Amino acid sequence: MNGHSDVEGIGLGLVAPPSSTGIKVIVVGSGFAGLACAIECKRKGHDVLVLEKFSELKVLGDVISLGPNAGRFIERWGLHDKLWPICAHAPFLNLHNHLGEIIQVQPLPAHEYGSQSYNGHRGEMHRILFQHAESIGVDIRLGQNITEYWETDQDGLAGVITNGECICGDVVIGADGVRSKARELILGFNDKHRSSGYAIYRAWFKAQENGVDKDPLIEFLTTGNDVLYGWIGKDIHLLASSFQNSTAISWLMTHKDDADINESWSFPGKMEDVLALVEGWDPRCAALLSKAPWCIDWKLVYRDPLPTWISEGARMAVMGDAAHPFLPMQGASQAIEDGVVLAVTLQLAGKAKVPLALRAWETIRYQRVRKAQIMGETTRDKWHRANPGDRGECIDIPRPEWLLSFDAEAHAYQVYNNVEKQIKEHGYKHPTCP
Ligand SMILES: Cc1cc2nc3c(=O)[nH]c(=O)nc-3n(C[C@H](O)[C@H](O)[C@H](O)COP(=O)(O)OP(=O)(O)OC[C@H]3O[C@@H](n4cnc5c(N)ncnc54)[C@H](O)[C@@H]3O)c2cc1C
Ligand SMILES: *[C@@H]1O[C@H](CO)[C@@H](O)[C@H](O)[C@H]1NC(C)=O
Ligand SMILES: *[C@@H]1O[C@H](CO)[C@@H](O)[C@H](O)[C@H]1NC(C)=O
Ligand SMILES: *[C@@H]1O[C@H](CO)[C@@H](O)[C@H](O)[C@H]1NC(C)=O
Repeated sequence: MNGHSDVEGIGLGLVAPPSSTGIKVIVVGSGFAGLACAIECKRKGHDVLVLEKFSELKVLGDVISLGPNAGRFIERWGLHDKLWPICAHAPFLNLHNHLGEIIQVQPLPAHEYGSQSYNGHRGEMHRILFQHAESIGVDIRLGQNITEYWETDQDGLAGVITNGECICGDVVIGADGVRSKARELILGFNDKHRSSGYAIYRAWFKAQENGVDKDPLIEFLTTGNDVLYGWIGKDIHLLASSFQNSTAISWLMTHKDDADINESWSFPGKMEDVLALVEGWDPRCAALLSKAPWCIDWKLVYRDPLPTWISEGARMAVMGDAAHPFLPMQGASQAIEDGVVLAVTLQLAGKAKVPLALRAWETIRYQRVRKAQIMGETTRDKWHRANPGDRGECIDIPRPEWLLSFDAEAHAYQVYNNVEKQIKEHGYKHPTCP
């Protein structure tokens, strides 16, 4: 295969003997970033321990998207057959203006840039990854309360104190999501979040149990074939999708909201507020929104990019949402890429050079992540500015090749030697925003 033939026998899709590198990795958080990191560390022969706050595995959240840039890892892990049946397979995004006139039909190829996209229920997809990690022997401990992160210069160690117990390893990764404690404990950054000015009402519910198939206005969502519909009005957009042979429906309505900036995956939304937003709209919108037995009021919070994701001694780092929160679309995909790439840089640097591995990881990841973040903001702004009557403006969901055709694992193998050489010759400089 291309670009990583110098790593004998251990490359894409191949699994190294367990603990063959001798590197002990401690991962805090078992979300998509933590699990991807743990699965790939295991595959590359590192010794990995995952510490999770939740005391049990719960199926939480609603819809989440993995682009082909993350889907290729789902396939590499052999999980396609498990994820595919629960994901949406709408062939088009049918976009309307608020009056329900169709303004654009965007084809959504299921297989593009060498891999599948997986759009499904966050909790159901997460459970499959979690169980896969356990099945390949990743040690995941639940109910953990991490109170301290530490690293030493002399002995080259790093560790955590969790539930009063000190656990040590070669590297510690904080993958504990948007409201990361690791961000503060590892990097010393207080969480300076602020309102993005938007919030999303979100719901996921059973279609038949809630009468979607009995309402002539919206029975088109339950014909057995998955569909994806969008409505764009001033400062509001609504996306609705059917899943799992039309047995499940999800909708997301993004709207202006400066009132409150608490992030929560469980804060309830009031249906009367939701319906007030679509007064005078295509009547299918209210019909659809009102079928949800409940919805979540999810504040879209903004954070400025962190100047660095790694600690002073470069034995600790944050990744995924803890390092770089995203607007909807690429968050989970970039979190998975983060985890995959770290496993590669640790493998190539080796146990004696863990700090170099973390610095190379940050160098490889930083600008790509930033570029993807900016793309999400641009799309959001474009949709909210969109004059639905203006057919000239491009309002596609962007599917750029640089983002989606990317193979983070192969790329890391390709560039690692050069990145390491740069760092050795010129000293380490944190990457900056483009
Ligand atoms: C309950 C929940 C529901 C979500 N629902 C959606 C959704 O419907 N749609 C969507 O697009 N995104 C959702 N997300 C966010 C989405 O999973 C992430 O944006 C994305 O996958 C990036 O993954 P991550 O691993 O960085 O963060 P996350 O997936 O948020 O994972 C972080 C993990 O760290 C754990 N954790 C947090 N604090 C600590 C701590 N102090 N110590 C130890 N462990 C800790 C969390 O319990 C979680 O398992 C949800 C996240 C959570 C936690
Ligand atoms: C975690 O431990 C700290 C220190 O012992 C304690 O103050 C805190 O309440 C604990 N948190 C949880 C969620 O148990
Ligand atoms: C959808 O239908 C197909 C074909 O009938 C079936 O194999 C699959 O299990 C169904 N999926 C779900 C989630 O119901
Ligand atoms: C936001 O969360 C904080 C801490 O959990 C809480 O004290 C505060 O009341 C919340 N604010 C709102 C508006 O819900």
